[in-house]
Amino acid sequence: MQSDQLIQVGRARLTHNYSQLPIVLSHGEGCYVWDSDGNRYLDMFSGIAVNALGHNHPRLVQAVSQQARKLLHVSNIFFSEPQVRLAAMLAELSFADRVFFANSGAEANEAALKLVRRYMREVRREDRFEVITMLHSFHGRTMATVTATGQEKYHKGFEPLVPGFKYAKFNDISSIKALIGPQTAAVMIEPVQGEGGVWPADPTFMRELRQLCDEKGLLLVFDEVQTGIGRCGTMFAYQHYDVVPDLMTLAKGLGGGVPIGAMLCREAVSKGFVPGSHASTFGGNPLACQAALATLETIQSEELLTNCEVIGRYLLSQLSDLANKYDFVVEARGIGLLLGLELSCEAKPVVEACMKRGVLLNAIGSHVLRFAPSLIIQKGQARAALQVLTQVFDEIASKTEAQAATG
Ligand SMILES: Cc1ncc(COP(=O)(O)O)c(C=O)c1O
Repeated sequence: MQSDQLIQVGRARLTHNYSQLPIVLSHGEGCYVWDSDGNRYLDMFSGIAVNALGHNHPRLVQAVSQQARKLLHVSNIFFSEPQVRLAAMLAELSFADRVFFANSGAEANEAALKLVRRYMREVRREDRFEVITMLHSFHGRTMATVTATGQEKYHKGFEPLVPGFKYAKFNDISSIKALIGPQTAAVMIEPVQGEGGVWPADPTFMRELRQLCDEKGLLLVFDEVQTGIGRCGTMFAYQHYDVVPDLMTLAKGLGGGVPIGAMLCREAVSKGFVPGSHASTFGGNPLACQAALATLETIQSEELLTNCEVIGRYLLSQLSDLANKYDFVVEARGIGLLLGLELSCEAKPVVEACMKRGVLLNAIGSHVLRFAPSLIIQKGQARAALQVLTQVFDEIASKTEAQAATG
């Protein structure tokens, strides 16, 4: 099928919950993707922070193809080597003792929320089930995780929501304190709010939050679906903050593009699950786990955490310069290679104009551009993306000036 036809059929046959841009991507290499008409794009958000190793990374491709020839799937009624090795590797890399595998971020969070409840009921024998999450957070689209998401626009039309969630102000410890009651079980938070507009947590707030959870006997859950797997320049963002959670969820970058999610926890908390209390048919299958092993090993062997930190710092400083230069650019923010540029004008036309010039950017909400390139990105590529963005901003600036002159 030609791309026009594919777009037409896609628009007719896919459900209406996405607003796709009018290109059909066909293949990728490193930080570049090509559409089916042969146009090349510099991918500055890597499948929304998923393709940690870029596209078509030889180690990931080899791991996946070798595993596909060996064993694609077995149920969790059996062990498989990739699953066990991945659980051991994640435990070694993090604070956690045990891992539950899922297929997505929402499922990993769903597992964390269920474990929090069962741990309180079955292990601590306490009637605590409420979870405090943050306003402007994002935790997924299942009924529990969409309820956990502190943004009304995602709730609309799906009521009644799941009971037991309260929303506090991000970076405001007193707002959390005010919501704690006898039935509070946990606080769940993203170290950097990604979908909410790329808002990093304040380090002091994070330390106070850990202390508060300890004082009140609450579990602290970090949703690292977006921030984990090197995105913030450390393997997990909690290491950047030096604040250790009790549970942590991962997905996005974990499989380098192969769907996999994970919920990690300490031994004591894990006792909330017993055989039969939670499960997933596909969760932790050998193919996805082998992909995740290859991703983690490559992040280590190619020193991609350092690259993330270095290029992230460069991008952030250049984006901050753009904020100083253009009136309609409000602020640059973020950590590592999870960066946001807030505009006072609409972000969507900027995304479209950059796309026409061969750079893929992502708009979150109406006014924020998100940069989440793969961790392998080189300085020259970051510079090329910035050049295109500057051209687009120059155009906006001259249009605004012309309008003011005629106006
Ligand atoms: C912080 C966070 N949590 C959870 C999710 C949901 O992940 P998924 O779309 O894989 O279910 C996302 C997705 O953007 C996310 O950014």
